[in-house]
Formats: sequence, C-alpha cells, structure tokens
Amino acid sequence: VIESPNILERVKKSYVRSWFDDVPLVLAVVGNKNEVWQRKYDGYNSLETDLSIAMDHMILAASALGIGSCWIANFEPEVLRGALQLKEDQEIFAITPLGYPKEGGSEEVKEKTRKKLGDIMRMI
Ligand SMILES: Cc1cc2nc3c(=O)[nH]c(=O)nc-3n(C[C@H](O)[C@H](O)[C@H](O)COP(=O)(O)O)c2cc1C
Repeated sequence: VIESPNILERVKKSYVRSWFDDVPLVLAVVGNKNEVWQRKYDGYNSLETDLSIAMDHMILAASALGIGSCWIANFEPEVLRGALQLKEDQEIFAITPLGYPKEGGSEEVKEKTRKKLGDIMRMI
C-alpha cells in the first residue's frame, strides 16, 4: 500500500492521467515468480491469477465501503518497477488507486455501457 508522498509521486509517473494525479493511496499487488504454484501436467503458472484474485477481492471490499478504485494495467512497467524498487523475481500486473470519489465525479468518467446478459452468458 503506497501512501508516502515521494513514492506516490514516482508511481504516478508510470501512469500519467489527470484523474490519477491527486489520488491519496495506491494499492499494488506484487508476487514472486519463483515461489508460485505450477501445474505439473503442463507448467501452467498461477502468478497472474493469484495476484488478480487478491486485487479483485480488495477492490470489491473497497467498493462495499464506498471507496473508489480503477484496475490499472496500462502503466509503464519500468517506471513502476523503479518506483516500487522491485527485484528481478518480483512481478506486478495491476495497481489501483483507492480513495473516496469526488462529489459529482470526474469529468473524465464516461457513461457505462453494458452488454445484455444474454450476449455474454449461455445456458447449456
Ligand atoms: C486487465 C485490465 C486492465 C485494465 N487497465 C486499465 C487501465 O490501465 N486504465 C484504466 O483506466 N482502466 C483499466 N481497466 C478498466 C477499469 O479498471 C475497469 O475494469 C473498467 O472501468 C470497468 O469497470 P466497471 O466494471 O466497474 O464498469 C482495465 C481493466 C482490465 C480488466
């Protein structure tokens, strides 16, 4: 959990957006690629799945408390790795800001469009 102003400033350079500029806290989920479970049959490596589950659960818990977040994968990896001083065996797939949404929301937040349930689900 990144809250110190100087590290936050460096993290924000990995993803430059006006709405990301004044977030008070960033959550980063980091795993070690040499300590991850692998399936013996085909070598499937669960690091990204494990980290995504952890991040997703925390985002859902935050959301239940009225805390805003945004899954961010479009960061510049080398800038973020440098900001967090990650070691070679550490991997990161996503970060999210955490904070109470501004009154009235951000001007950049677009209207959400959702596919119909029938377009994404099939009963078999
Ligand atoms: C793998 C992945 C990467 C994403 N990366 C970004 C990103 O870098 N920046 C961003 O604004 N949204 C990104 N998003 C989208 C949002 O964080 C979020 O998923 C989207 O706004 C849908 O949220 P909603 O289901 O609450 O509408 C990403 C989503 C996924 C699944």
